[in-house]
Amino acid sequence: MHVPPHHVKVKVSYAALNSSCDFVIRSIPKTFSTLKVPEWEFSGRIVEVGADVREEFRVGASVFGFLYQTKSALFTFKEMQGALAEYVVANVDFVALKPSNATEAQAAYLPIAFVGMKTLDVGRVGPGDSILVVGGSGAIGTALVQMAKHVVGKQGRVVATCSKSKMDFVEGLGADEVIDYKQDVGAYLLWQPQI
Ligand SMILES: NC(=O)c1ccc[n+]([C@@H]2O[C@H](COP(=O)([O-])OP(=O)(O)OC[C@H]3O[C@@H](n4cnc5c(N)ncnc54)[C@H](OP(=O)(O)O)[C@@H]3O)[C@@H](O)[C@H]2O)c1
Repeated sequence: MHVPPHHVKVKVSYAALNSSCDFVIRSIPKTFSTLKVPEWEFSGRIVEVGADVREEFRVGASVFGFLYQTKSALFTFKEMQGALAEYVVANVDFVALKPSNATEAQAAYLPIAFVGMKTLDVGRVGPGDSILVVGGSGAIGTALVQMAKHVVGKQGRVVATCSKSKMDFVEGLGADEVIDYKQDVGAYLLWQPQI
């Protein structure tokens, strides 16, 4: 595998599986004549570094990251050389050192969790706010519920939707209130204008 200047080669320990992964894996042999590898988020150890890479990214460093795709590559599946592989070559702008308090398995999920963090940022959510997380039991929702509760604090309120069977789980993540999405969520919100 060629390692361009601003990239690192990583021996993958874990790849994060998205909910559509099963469908993508089953579709690949029927859709493409060349090898395609799904999934984008990974953790692992650096085995080779490009010529233009910051010193912190040394061979042997434990890292996590995201295999960045241009929009056109993503939608045409042209460069679908994803994270469910033994090795990946990743742009270091999308790689970070694994935090010492996270396992490699947890770190592979962090790029997905960051989507939740970005949501709080874009929504300018702050202490005391009340927010609704639609899909609180999903990949992004589970991270978002936890981060949202941390940000809004005790005075704020996190309300999340999910299926009935996962309501206890989502409450355990810190949601102040959990709603079964099969109930009339719209009617509920009409009575809760502050969310
Ligand atoms: N994963 C990513 O990397 C990523 C990145 C960017 C954007 N997104 C987008 O973010 C959204 C969530 O993605 P995700 O990966 O977190 O998905 P996911 O893991 O499949 O979670 C889906 C969530 O939606 C809930 N849900 C399922 N059917 C529903 C229904 N009929 N009505 C209301 N809620 C329902 C699920 O609840 P139950 O499981 O309890 O049934 C679950 O909480 C999607 O729009 C996705 O395209 C995802």
